Amino acid sequence: MTSITERHKTLERNVTLLGVAALVTVAIGGIVEIAPLFWIDNTIEKVDGMRPYTPLEQAGRDIYIREGCYVCHSQMIRPFRDEVERYGHYSLAAESMYDHPFQWGSKRTGPDLARVGGKYSDSWHVQHLTNPQSVVPESVMPQYGFLKENDLDLGDPAARLKTLREVGVPYSDKDIELAMADLKAQADPDADAGDLAKRYPKAQIRDYDGDPGRITEMDALVAYLQMLGTLVDVNSAAAQEELATEKGR
Ligand code: HEC
Repeated sequence: MTSITERHKTLERNVTLLGVAALVTVAIGGIVEIAPLFWIDNTIEKVDGMRPYTPLEQAGRDIYIREGCYVCHSQMIRPFRDEVERYGHYSLAAESMYDHPFQWGSKRTGPDLARVGGKYSDSWHVQHLTNPQSVVPESVMPQYGFLKENDLDLGDPAARLKTLREVGVPYSDKDIELAMADLKAQADPDADAGDLAKRYPKAQIRDYDGDPGRITEMDALVAYLQMLGTLVDVNSAAAQEELATEKGR
């Protein structure tokens, strides 16, 4: 009878046999990891409050990406004590589920912005973006005053939402149909916003840049910043559930 050591010796000395055996072993691990992804609809637990971005927030997000804010700012609070104490509750997977592209990042020249919404007033943001050094003298952040001069290029917000829907963001037909109206209404406190706030819970409807007469790139960017981290009540029951699953994973 050949002992197990001897059989192992045969395996180790036969390159082809060893290769095949290694492949089979690795494939089992691979299948176990990958196969379930084909049968579950979503790998991210839904959390109460998370919703697609409004057309104005999305336009602001596009400016955020255009201006390369992500080069210095991440949007992912890691579950470490120092980060949680500085920025608030760590980011949940669901909070970036509608991000295309995501803004997690690993390099922070400036602070993480995942929960910056509501931390400052609109006028603070306008002042800070226009001249960061006037608020934080030693800041290395560039000045973005031109955003207040530039009228927002409205483009075709419906097409923008439609494209996002293609990649899985659940905008309804009505959201797409009303995209342009929604975009304009959110930045104008006097406009009839219709059921905007119902379709986009917690949408903040107001003039953001202190110039109610027009919609500027500053309006869109500040609307986006003020929304960040405000949608999910991280202490709510649903979030607690998500936390439990995340821990059990
Ligand atoms: C060259 C790196 C750099 C770039 C690019 C940059 N920032 Fe900053 N940002 C910083 C630094 C450093 C700070 C901290 C000092 C300060 O508040 O100015 C900061 C602070 C901030 C804050 C305040 C955060 C807080 O919690 O206090 C906001 C909001 C912000 N940046 C938004 C933006 C936006 C929006 C853009 C793009 C239009 C941008 N930043 C581009 C470096 C950068």
